[in-house]
Amino acid sequence: MSVIRTQVGIVGAGPAGLLLGHLLHLNGIDSVIVENRSRDYVIDRVRAGVLEQGTVDLLKAMGVGDGLERKGLRHDGLYVSFQGERHHVNLVELTGGKAITVYGQNEIVRDLIDARIATGRPLYFEAEGVSVGGLESAEPTIAFQHDGTAHEVQCDFIAGCDGFHGICRPSIPDGVLTVYERTYPFGWLGILAEAAPSCDELVYTCHARGFALFSMRSPQVTRLYFQVPPEESIDNWSDEAIWNEMLTRMTTHDRWKPNVGRIVQKGVTPMRSFVATPMRHGRLFLAGDAAHIVPPTGAKGLNLAASDVLVLARALKSFYERGRTEWLDGYSDTCLRRVWKAQRFSWWMTSTLHRFPDETPFDHQRRIADLDYLTSSRAAMTSLAEQYVGLPAEVSFESVGLSAP
Ligand code: APR
Ligand code: PHB
Repeated sequence: MSVIRTQVGIVGAGPAGLLLGHLLHLNGIDSVIVENRSRDYVIDRVRAGVLEQGTVDLLKAMGVGDGLERKGLRHDGLYVSFQGERHHVNLVELTGGKAITVYGQNEIVRDLIDARIATGRPLYFEAEGVSVGGLESAEPTIAFQHDGTAHEVQCDFIAGCDGFHGICRPSIPDGVLTVYERTYPFGWLGILAEAAPSCDELVYTCHARGFALFSMRSPQVTRLYFQVPPEESIDNWSDEAIWNEMLTRMTTHDRWKPNVGRIVQKGVTPMRSFVATPMRHGRLFLAGDAAHIVPPTGAKGLNLAASDVLVLARALKSFYERGRTEWLDGYSDTCLRRVWKAQRFSWWMTSTLHRFPDETPFDHQRRIADLDYLTSSRAAMTSLAEQYVGLPAEVSFESVGLSAP
């Protein structure tokens, strides 16, 4: 067995694990990242792609923003569409200059993996039988097999960045965690299509047949979603049927509609709200999807992972540079304040824009009135805008050794 000594052991090479690894590197803190999938798998996994202003600023301040600069699509606003009409929400005007940027999660993961490899610090892909131990000791461990060799990472802290289905959260003893959960009675059927986006900003549509979302990945690729029953199988949907449903739900009275093109990827994702608290147990710190899941309607998943690791990096920097533990001790509470605000926003966006199976005609009219109020009140639009572009961060860039944007 090979023993690897490091300061921080990181399980998972998704956005949370890779961002943390690089933030620690920039602060001279050692880490080892252990991922059970291949490099190609973690890069090719199609996920969301909307970045808050703060996440964009963070990636640039960390020196991993080149791809984002070149290929990111900055959006100064978005549309909310209902009863056949699109209503514009001017994010920049309503938030004093903040915007969102569309840049696929897989691009971010690719950029961060390249940055990790450039640092020369360890990143193990295709690790097998990953397990963690000694969480309540001063020297927790990560055990795994790689290329037929058994390895044990001995470290001071473990960052559990292994997502919702990872091994870190379940390794916390029973009775420690309190779990808050809500599953939604629908999922999203999503496609990637080779079609030039017919609108330069996102369009969130509330239609009598259900929710639909117009997004994009590049000037050549459109990303579209519509709500379907939770157990729906993608095999039930021919490409033609998908386009018929997309166009039925999205086409507006002024005849705006998405361009149709070859569907290159399609799938159905379930929708849930999930929070596990506390986000720390002994020397194990959970970050990102390992601790919380939001429904994608508010585009908060990736951004929450980024804000978690910013809080964790500050705490670890303070520990290693000054032996201070108060920020480590405050990690969970600090993150959860932002997590619950994002949970509330994501639940509100989901509840307002989706059709619930047991919805009464009263409920439907109330939702329409909610959208009518939203799109005719500056106060309501400002509330949406400030949450959508991202609420102010709890942690300053300076406190993790970065210069402010
Ligand atoms: N051992 C090692 N790695 C693991 C294990 C394991 N047992 N289980 C899972 N992993 C890896 C996954 O393969 C994945 O690469 O952990 C990583 C977790 O990454 P994500 O699921 O992307 O989670 P996170 O980094 O927290 O990013 C959250 O991802 O799912 C989106 O919408 C979500 O945007 C949000 C973001
Ligand atoms: C996406 O572009 O994939 C996307 C955009 C907005 C969302 C969710 C997903 O709310």
